[in-house]
Amino acid sequence: MIIKGGKPLKGRIEVRGAKNLATKAMVATLLGKTPSVLRNVPNISDVRVVAGLLALHGVLITKGENADEWHFDPSNVEVAHKADIDAHAGSSRIPILFCGPLLHRLGEAFIPDLGGCRIGDRPIDFHLDALREFGAVVEKLPSGISLTAPNGLKGANIELPYPSVGATEQVLLTAVLAEGQTELRNAAIEPEIIDLICILQKMGAIISMEPNRVIFIEGVEELRGYDHKAIFDRNEAASWAAAALATKGDIFVGGVRQEEMMTFLNAFRKVGGDFDVHDDGIRFWHPGGDLKPVTIETDVHPGFMTDWQQPLVVALTQASGTSTIHETVYENRFGFTDALNTMGANIVVHQNGLHDESRRVKRREFEQAAVITGPTPLTAADVVVPDLRGGFSHLIAAMIAEGESKVSNIGIIARGYENFIEKLRLLGADFVFEA
Ligand code: EPU
Repeated sequence: MIIKGGKPLKGRIEVRGAKNLATKAMVATLLGKTPSVLRNVPNISDVRVVAGLLALHGVLITKGENADEWHFDPSNVEVAHKADIDAHAGSSRIPILFCGPLLHRLGEAFIPDLGGCRIGDRPIDFHLDALREFGAVVEKLPSGISLTAPNGLKGANIELPYPSVGATEQVLLTAVLAEGQTELRNAAIEPEIIDLICILQKMGAIISMEPNRVIFIEGVEELRGYDHKAIFDRNEAASWAAAALATKGDIFVGGVRQEEMMTFLNAFRKVGGDFDVHDDGIRFWHPGGDLKPVTIETDVHPGFMTDWQQPLVVALTQASGTSTIHETVYENRFGFTDALNTMGANIVVHQNGLHDESRRVKRREFEQAAVITGPTPLTAADVVVPDLRGGFSHLIAAMIAEGESKVSNIGIIARGYENFIEKLRLLGADFVFEA
């Protein structure tokens, strides 16, 4: 994209269902005896990757009357050819969640090498340890993982070393049909996880949320299909809000609810942005005046999401003073700041975090901190998108930079932002896109 900066983004756009729920809800269809219907499905490439893998395993996928309504018929689930599955290697992280459902349905599973954004090591040890607790036998192959369950899957007592989103989903998708009871401690409780639990309950599962990150699951013998509207994408919503702030614009983001955005809204207000909550969405705008610096620690829910920091960092380059973002979820999530510095930002990344007595979150081994000093005018540059969220922040940076920037490798952004080119057009951005 060739982007000419300097135009405030103004108008209304809609966010669709969350990437980080819709893809998992699609995997859950494998567990049902009858067809499922998922509405509000985003048109993003991660959804298409999961649809491809489901189809390989015999799930019949059709579209409903509206393009965002998908039907999944799992009546003929079958073992897929390894070579066909392997063709999906490196395309997404979701395939790891096929383990439990495929073991229940077929007694075996082959999972290709995983993809997803390169924002750290992203190991899957919590997933595999949990699956072993259920009785799965895991064999690591030169490419991919093979799993079997010679004695079936049985409920387990599991404590996660960290409230991992993916590992919590892995346990949920496995425990619902496992024999007996499962107790999961130190579980992730992100709104997308709660939405997945709602889906599983619709399917016939018995899952109770207890205080202190404990989830109890009583295994049942069979599940049916579900009909569900996916929760909105909080990450997309926060990205457009940050775009409104950075470009001195005014964006009504339709489909967003306050409840799941509270932590973001507090930070947005502290930086100097304004918002109005409506029944059908939230309007975000720059009210004029200077933006203010903030200190933020990314965290698991209900903390400030790691996926929210990248677009906000662009706005913080325009704040008067020094902001600090501690990244405590991933060990390598500031790569995108190199491009911002090329454009004139003043961002120093401390690879081992910062010593700060007032820290609320205990230092983890791989923590990073970014110190952003502003305001710094940005000037156009040629930048290459490194990952999904970092990529969106590059788009925003180019929108406020003086001159014409070239942002390449934008295909990565389509993994998680539905129709973002069309939405930018609707908001009045000045750009040319060469496919
Ligand atoms: N971790 C392990 N071992 C594991 C699993 C996780 O050490 O077996 C570590 C990770 O390396 C990371 C931390 O635990 O340091 C948190 O990882 P988590 O499992 O919670 O993340 P995830 O399930 O892989 C999902 C989202 C991410 C989002 C995180 C945190 C999906 C497909 N991805 O990842 O979304 O950042 O939760 O909320 O749901 C994005 O949308 O751009 C994105 C990266």
